[in-house]
Amino acid sequence: MAYNAAQMGGAKLKGLVLSGGKGSRLRPFTYTGAKQLVPVANKPVLFYAIEQLVASGIDEIGIITGDTGAEVREALGDGSRFGCRFTFIPQEAPLGVAHAVKIAQPFMGDAPFVVFLGDNFLRGGIERHVEAFRESHADAMVLLAHVANPRDFGVAVLDGEGKLTRLIEKPVEPPTDLAVIGLYMFSPRFFEAAGQITPSARGELEITDAIQKLVDLGGDVRATVIDGDWIDTGRMGDILAANRIVLSDVEPTLDGAYVDERSKIEGRVVLQAGARIVNSTIVGPAIVGENTEVVDSRIGPFVSIYHHCRVNGAEIESSIVLERSVIDRPGAKIQDSLIGRDVTLEGGGKALRLVIGDHSQMELS
Ligand code: DAU
Repeated sequence: MAYNAAQMGGAKLKGLVLSGGKGSRLRPFTYTGAKQLVPVANKPVLFYAIEQLVASGIDEIGIITGDTGAEVREALGDGSRFGCRFTFIPQEAPLGVAHAVKIAQPFMGDAPFVVFLGDNFLRGGIERHVEAFRESHADAMVLLAHVANPRDFGVAVLDGEGKLTRLIEKPVEPPTDLAVIGLYMFSPRFFEAAGQITPSARGELEITDAIQKLVDLGGDVRATVIDGDWIDTGRMGDILAANRIVLSDVEPTLDGAYVDERSKIEGRVVLQAGARIVNSTIVGPAIVGENTEVVDSRIGPFVSIYHHCRVNGAEIESSIVLERSVIDRPGAKIQDSLIGRDVTLEGGGKALRLVIGDHSQMELS
C-alpha cells in the first residue's frame, strides 16, 4: 500500500530534493558539473534519492537548483520518467540547507514533507522511515548514523530515553559520533522554526539550527539511529564507496553488448547497450556504459565506466570514469580514481591515483 505511506493527517506528503549548493569538496569536478549528477554505477546520484521518494508514494517533488540548474533540469525532465511531477525552485545563492527548504514553502503549502539532500545516498530505501513518520504525526523526524568523522556533519545528542535534545553543525569537538543524515521529514511547523534562525558562522541558514529551534519551541522531534549504509557522496572517497555499494547489488546483464571471443566476463557485470569488449577481462562488480569500447584492458572490480568512453590497453580498479573520456595506454594501473567528462589520458607509469576534472587532457610519460 505505497500510497498510504504518502498520506498524513489527510494531507499528502510532498518531497524536496536539494540540488543546488557549491560542492567545493568535489572540485575540480564541480567547476563544470553538478555534484548531484556524478554517476554512481552509471546513474546520477540524485536519481537514487528521487526514485526512493517515488517508491514511498511521493509524486509531487520540488527540486532546489543553483548555478547548475540548467544541467539538473535537463537531466531530470518533468518527472514523468520517474513517475512523479517536478517543480523546479531556483535558489539565488547557496545560503544554506534551511534556506533552501524555506524558499520551498509556497510549493509545500500545508503538506508535511520529506527533504532529501541530492548528494546523500541511503542503501535499502526510505519507505519504512517515511511510513514511521506518517504514523507518528510528529513535527520532525531525523535519521542518525554512527560515523568515524562527526566533525564533518551535523551532530546529534540524545537523552537517556533516546529523545533528541541538541544538534550542532560540524562541531570542532563533537559530543557524540551520531551524524544527522541528509533525509529529513517535517510538518509545516518547520517554517515557523526556520523563520526564527539566523545565519551561522559560515554564513548559512543551517538545517540543524532549524531543527534545534523546533525542539526549543516544544515541537515533537523524533530521531532514529539507522544501522544501514549511508553515504554523503560529497567527497571523492565517499563517492567511490557509494559506487562499490551499488555495484555490489546490481543485476548482472550483458544485453545488447558485444563481447569478442578473446574477452572474459567474470562475476557481477553489467554491460549496457552498445558496449564493446574486445580482448579484455571485466571483473565484477563492474559496469560498462552505453557505446563504450574497452580494448586490450582489464577492468574491475568496482569500476563504473560511463557512456561513450574508449579504454585501450588499461588496467582500472575501484574507479569511476565519466562520459566520453578516453583512456589510452596509461601504462599503469589506475585505481581509486575519479575521472571527469571528456577527459583524455594517455601514456604514463607506476601507479596512478587521480581526480581529473572534466575536459582535461593528460599525457603522462
Ligand atoms: O550529508 C549530511 C549533512 O548535510 C548533515 O549532517 C549536515 O547537518 C547538513 O548541514 C549537510 O551538510 P553538508 O555540509 O554536507 O551540506 P552541503 O553544503 O554539502 O549541502 C547538502 C546538499 O544540499 C547538496 O546536495 C547541495 C545542496 N544545497 C546546499 C546548500 C548549502 C543546496 O541546494 N542549497 C544550499 O544553499
